[in-house]
Amino acid sequence: MRTTTVSETLPLDTAQARAATAADGMPFAHWMQQQQQRAQTLIAHFVPQAHPLVPQLHEAMHYAAAMGGKRVRPLLVWAAGECVGAPDSALDRAACAVELVHAYSLVHDDLPCMDDDVLRRGQPTTHVQFGEALALLAGDALQALAYEVLTPEVGMEPALQARLCGLLARASGADGMAGGQTLDILATGEALGGDALMQMHSRKTGALLKASVLMGAACGGVDPAHQAETFAALETYGDAIGLAFQVVDDILDVTADSATLGKTAGKDAQQNKATYVSILGLPAARALALALRDKAQSALRSLPSAQCHSSQRLRELADLIVLREH
Ligand code: IPE
Ligand code: IPE
Ligand code: MG
Ligand code: MG
Ligand code: MG
Repeated sequence: MRTTTVSETLPLDTAQARAATAADGMPFAHWMQQQQQRAQTLIAHFVPQAHPLVPQLHEAMHYAAAMGGKRVRPLLVWAAGECVGAPDSALDRAACAVELVHAYSLVHDDLPCMDDDVLRRGQPTTHVQFGEALALLAGDALQALAYEVLTPEVGMEPALQARLCGLLARASGADGMAGGQTLDILATGEALGGDALMQMHSRKTGALLKASVLMGAACGGVDPAHQAETFAALETYGDAIGLAFQVVDDILDVTADSATLGKTAGKDAQQNKATYVSILGLPAARALALALRDKAQSALRSLPSAQCHSSQRLRELADLIVLREH
């Protein structure tokens, strides 16, 4: 008989409590704080620190996934879900799964064979804390767990499970994050052209952010007459905020300090990385980030009216992504 694992259940408080919406009139900062807490509860549930089987691996997984982070990807899942009236239980799983893949990507990004970083989310990177082998394996296991979270035995339609797994897999693999990270490593020390830089950034970072939006939207029941229009607008929004996110990450690497960032500032120049700042300079990189924010927000205005009316959180998240300080 099959044993029920922790990934088959949702923590009661998040499964029962309805998520706050823009229609509640809640200021964005409060909504964000509440949803970040929701993400924390979910991640801590799916990645418990103490586990009888291979405790060292679980400790490293918990360290990498449950200790800090802005939770921008889950916020995008919930905001897109609100836009299409999606149920909380599916959104919670989608939000958690994409954050688990993101956490894994950070662990591997920091490894000595990649960016060789020692600081992440204000604490030693996972390989510094647990050693390279455990960090590598914790990343692997977090990635696998993401798909386990998306495929419960009950409570989620198989077609939706498949759709969400497909969106997440495409955004994480060779056409998405892993492909973009490869381009990043190969481009180190090279002067890239604008097109190549956009390809690299859209894949390594943009793809997962865009997938967050599309996964949130996939959880909803949009009127079939408006489905293509809705997804086209959200794709444009996701492409724009996804690229903007990495443009701003490049800017902050130059303008912010390590204490604010929770990671080593000035790392890109030190490692001779191809970034929007190294190629365009700071003022043009800033202008590009703002132009991408405007493009994203204008895509929301082209949503069918029902979705457009409930896209306030997505609009606010586009501002957050571009105006953030860490
Ligand atoms: C950092 O992502 C890595 C990039 C993809 C640019 P975040 O800035 O979202 O990192 P956390 O999750 O808040 O730590
Ligand atoms: C990382 O980009 C993108 C990932 C896929 C993790 P960076 O290497 O610029 O991210 P940080 O600055 O280390 O967070
Ligand atoms: Mg990197
Ligand atoms: Mg890095
Ligand atoms: Mg960076």
